[in-house]
Amino acid sequence: MNKAAVQTVDQTEQIDYMELDSIIEEEFNSDKENLIMILQAIQKRYNYLPQPALAYLAAKISVPYSNIYGVATFYSTFSLEPRGRNIVSVCLGTACHVRGAERVSERIENSLGITNGQTTDDKRFTLASVRCIGCCSLGPVVKINEDMHGRLAPGDVQMVLDQYE
Ligand code: FES
Repeated sequence: MNKAAVQTVDQTEQIDYMELDSIIEEEFNSDKENLIMILQAIQKRYNYLPQPALAYLAAKISVPYSNIYGVATFYSTFSLEPRGRNIVSVCLGTACHVRGAERVSERIENSLGITNGQTTDDKRFTLASVRCIGCCSLGPVVKINEDMHGRLAPGDVQMVLDQYE
C-alpha cells in the first residue's frame, strides 16, 4: 500500500497512513504484543477506530483482521463508530442517581439536542451514560474526556459544556 495514500472514510474523516505508520512502527515497534496500546493510540487520534485503520494495522502487525476486530469490540472503551471530539459520560449509578443525576442528564440532553449514545451534528460531543466511575462521594458526576465534574447541579451544565470546543 502506498504509504502516502489518504483514504476518504466519509465526508470529514481521512486516514493518513504515514501517521498510522508512525504510531504502529515508531511508537510500538510493530509489535503485536502492543495491540491494545496501538488501538488506544489510534482511537486517541480519531476518537474512534476507523475500519480502514484496523485493516491496515492487521496487515502491518500480521494479525488477522478478525482478531483485531474481536479485541476492538470486546472492550467497551473502544468505539467502531465515529464519535465527537468530547465524550460526555454521565454517571447514572446508584449514588449519583439518588443525588439527582437524572436531572443533570436531562439538562445535558436538552442543551446538546441529543440523547444517550448520540453525537452532535458538529461532532463536538458524544453523550454516553455510564454506571459508576468511582467517584461516588462527588455525585452527581459527569466525566468529559479525562476531566471529572463532581457535585454538578443542572444549572452548572451549560457553563461546563462551554469549556469544550
Ligand atoms: S455512582 Fe456515580 S460515581 Fe459511583
